[in-house]
Amino acid sequence: MCGIVGYLGERDAYPILIKGLHRLEYRGYDSAGVALINEEGEMTVCKAKGKVSVLEEVAAERDMRGTMGIAHTRWATHGEPNECNAHPHYSQSKELTLVHNGIIENYKALREELTNQGYSFVSETDTEVLVQLIEFVKSTHHCDLVRAVHLALKSVIGAYAIAVLEKGNADRLIVARKGSPLIVGIGKTEDGKTEFYVGSDATPIVEYTNQVVYLKDEEIAVLKRDGSYTITNLSNVEQTPQLQTLQVNLDELEKGGYAHFMLKEIYEQPESIRTCLGGRIDAKKRDVILSGILDNKKRFLNARRIIICACGTSWHSALIGKYFIEEACQIPVEVEYASEFRYRNPVIFKDDIVVAVSQSGETADTLAAIKLAKEKGAFIYGVCNVIGSSIAREANSGTYIHVGPEIGVASTKAFTGQVVTLALIGLAIAKEKKTLSTEMYEMLVDELRKIPQKMQWTLDHNKNIDRFAQMFTYCKNFIYLGRGYNYPVALEGALKLKEISYIHAEGYPAAEMKHGPIALVDEEMPVVVVAPKRGMYEKIVSNIQEIKSRHGKIISVVTQGDTVVKGMSDYTFVIPDTRDCYVPLLAVLPLQLLSYYVAVAKGRNVDQPRNLAKSVTVE
Ligand code: G6P
Repeated sequence: MCGIVGYLGERDAYPILIKGLHRLEYRGYDSAGVALINEEGEMTVCKAKGKVSVLEEVAAERDMRGTMGIAHTRWATHGEPNECNAHPHYSQSKELTLVHNGIIENYKALREELTNQGYSFVSETDTEVLVQLIEFVKSTHHCDLVRAVHLALKSVIGAYAIAVLEKGNADRLIVARKGSPLIVGIGKTEDGKTEFYVGSDATPIVEYTNQVVYLKDEEIAVLKRDGSYTITNLSNVEQTPQLQTLQVNLDELEKGGYAHFMLKEIYEQPESIRTCLGGRIDAKKRDVILSGILDNKKRFLNARRIIICACGTSWHSALIGKYFIEEACQIPVEVEYASEFRYRNPVIFKDDIVVAVSQSGETADTLAAIKLAKEKGAFIYGVCNVIGSSIAREANSGTYIHVGPEIGVASTKAFTGQVVTLALIGLAIAKEKKTLSTEMYEMLVDELRKIPQKMQWTLDHNKNIDRFAQMFTYCKNFIYLGRGYNYPVALEGALKLKEISYIHAEGYPAAEMKHGPIALVDEEMPVVVVAPKRGMYEKIVSNIQEIKSRHGKIISVVTQGDTVVKGMSDYTFVIPDTRDCYVPLLAVLPLQLLSYYVAVAKGRNVDQPRNLAKSVTVE
C-alpha cells in the first residue's frame, strides 16, 4: 500500500528512484512522484497520475539532476488518484517535501489547527497535513528539521513511513516509521564511499546492497552525505542500529521470460514448495522438524485453542490449515478475518495460540489483531513470507513459508506455501501430541514430500487452459464449488477470478448451493467444481447433477483416470491423486491458470489489477 524509495549518495538519484518505483509498483499504482535536490540545493518535484511509466514521460521534459531524492507510488486512501494528491507533497513555503505510506488518523483535527494558523492546503491528503505540521513545528520551535520531525510525529496518531527533503540541504535525508515498513540500505560506491538507499521493502535496494537496517516503530533515521547515520526514537534517544544481510536474490524480482509475474509465480510453485519443505522434512526418518514448534513445545501441548487471523487469500489458506490441524492434532481451531477480530473485543485466553498468516507480514489488520491478542496474553505465532516483516517481528515465534518474493498482486505461490507450512505445523504438533498413529503420520509426511512433483505434473497436463479460457470472457458471473478441504479452494478460485478479470464470482460449499445460489444457474452460468475422487466424491457427483439439470456449464477439477465427473462436465482439469488434505495444493493450480488466462483474454492488467494493492498497510 504505497511504496517509498529514497537515495543519497554520489550517483544520479533519478534512475535509481524510478527503477525502485517500478519494483514497488505492486504496492500501489494510481499515481507516482519524485523529488530531487541538486548540488545547488534546488528542489525539483515531478508527479503524474497513473503508473510510473507516465511519471517517466512527464519527467523526460524536466531537469531531473540530483544525487539525493525520494519517490513514491500511491494507492489512494485520502483523496482520489490525481496529480495533485500524488506524493511528494510540499509544505506551504515549499521548503520541505515529503512522501508517506500509511494513514494519519487525526489528520482532520491537525488540518483544522493548521488552517487556523494560516496554512492552506492544495490536496485532499493526510500526507500534506503531515508535511505542513513539520514546517509549522519547525518555525514555531525555531528548531532544525530533525527536531521538528521528532516533535511533529509525537502529535500524530496513525501509521506512517516517511522520507523528508529540505530545500538547500543536499546532505541529509530524514526517514521515519511507525506501523508502515521502511528499510535503510547501506551501500558502498566503487571508491568505497557510503551511500544510502531507502525502500518500503527490500526490492528497490537489493540490486545495490544487501546490508540493511529495518527501522523499528517510532524510529527516525538521519542519513548523511558523509556516510554517517543516526537512529533515534521519538524521545530523541539514540538507538543502536542492527545491520542485517538481505537474503533476496535479484533474479527473483524479474519476470524471467514470462509475460507476467503471476504466470511466473504459478509455474514456480513446484520449486517454491520444494524450498518451503527444504530442511523441514527428514525423508529417511519420515519426520517433520520445525524449530518454531519444538522450541515452544509446552505451549503447543497445552494450547486450549488456536485462532488463525488473516486477510484475503491468506484467510483461505488459514481455513485449510484449520481443517488440517483440527483433524491431525485434535485442537479446536478458529479462523478469523483479522479486520473483524481486532474490533470485536474477542475472548482470548492466556493458553490460546494466535497464528497470523500473512504473505507480506505487513497487513495492517493482521498486525493489529496479533498486537491485541498479545496484550491479552496469547502466544503469537507468525506464518509469513517476507523475512523481517512487521508481523514476523511482532510474533513470539513462527515459521517462514520461504517461497521467495511474490510480486503479482494476485497471490498464488504464497497460498500454496501457506497451506504447506500450516500442514507442517499440524504434523509437528501432532507428533508431539501423539494424535496421529505412526503409520498415518509417516504416510502424511511422505505424501507431502511428493507434492512438488505432483504440482509439476498438474502444470504439465493443463496446458490447454489458455485456449478454452477465451470462451469465458463473455461471462458476467461464475460459481465455484467444493466440499471439505476443497471449499476454501472454491473460495480462492473465485477470488482469483474476481481480482484480475473483474468477473463476479462466488465460492460456495457445494451442498449449500441448493440453499440459494442454485437460483442463479442457467445455461449462461459456468460452475467450477472441485471434484477429486476422494472423500465426498459421491456427494459432489449429486451436486453436479443438480447443476446439470438446470443447464449450468460444468468446469471440473478431477482426479486422473476419473470418467464419471469428466463425462458430466463441459471442461475438465486433471490432477494426480493425493490425500484429501493435500488436494487443495493441486486443485488450486488449474484455477489460478484459469483466472490468469481469462484475465489475459479480457485484456486486463494481470499483475496490477485496478483498485488493488499487494500489501495493505492501511485498515
Ligand atoms: C491484499 C492482497 C492479497 C492478500 C491480502 C492479505 O488484499 O492483494 O493477495 O491475500 O492482501 O495479504 P497478506 O500479505 O497479509 O497475506
